[in-house]
Amino acid sequence: MLDIQNLHAGYGEMPVLCSVNITIAEREIVSVVGSNGAGKSTLLKAISGIIKSTGIITFNHESLRTLAAHTIVQRGIVHVPEGRKIFPDMTVVENLMMGGYLHQKERQINLDRVFALFPKLAERRNQLGGTMSGGEQQMLAIGRGLMGNPKLLLLDEPSLGLSPLFTEVVFGAIRTINASGVTVLLVEQNVYQSLSISHRGYVIETGAIVLTGTGEELLNNREVKRAFLGM
Ligand SMILES: Nc1ncnc2c1ncn2[C@@H]1O[C@H](COP(=O)(O)OP(=O)(O)OP(=O)(O)O)[C@@H](O)[C@H]1O
Ligand SMILES: [Mg+2]
Repeated sequence: MLDIQNLHAGYGEMPVLCSVNITIAEREIVSVVGSNGAGKSTLLKAISGIIKSTGIITFNHESLRTLAAHTIVQRGIVHVPEGRKIFPDMTVVENLMMGGYLHQKERQINLDRVFALFPKLAERRNQLGGTMSGGEQQMLAIGRGLMGNPKLLLLDEPSLGLSPLFTEVVFGAIRTINASGVTVLLVEQNVYQSLSISHRGYVIETGAIVLTGTGEELLNNREVKRAFLGM
């Protein structure tokens, strides 16, 4: 579904990603794990067209590299950014509706689906986004992404700053979303949890992919255990 070959990207003169190769098949959950500053968010920004890149990125055999970010969204790639970026002065429902502006006809169905996935958002539908707790805001950010009818959902550190309980809720929701047919690219520092729910994963270090395998293979890999799992 998504094919990335020899991808280079950075900011101005500063290179970050160096010759990255990643493939994602339809209906997979694929995670990219790595430490702070490794280039995980940069990778998602290159895919969704927020920053320029060189190399090959194709989505269902169409090149994305020259498409504008809003066209990439229309193709079905929805990016839930790091730090949630919800609209603080809009209510929960208004935030969700913003995510569904391209899909007016399906907005009510999508809204019902989001509320079924996160009942808490239904309870809090008229609360201002900015007054929701961190975990609730993360649900809202994912919910807003789902309102865009994604074929491929890009999630940037959805568990960052969440309590163990909310982390469980969010990872459970990602599995449910995937089971409903959405392909997921998950970028995380929570290596154990993200590899546990992933079909396959990649380890990124200073902008380069250094290891790849199934979620289980990576969880059992000596280097992964040493570097990320404290074992
Ligand atoms: N807008 C920017 N301008 C210049 N440099 C940037 C910019 N955004 C990120 N960088 C740099 O690019 C490198 C990779 O950053 P990136 O945000 O992709 O890392 P990350 O793996 O997502 O890290 P984290 O886990 O902390 O979110 C870092 O050295 C960072 O300082
Ligand atoms: Mg990041």
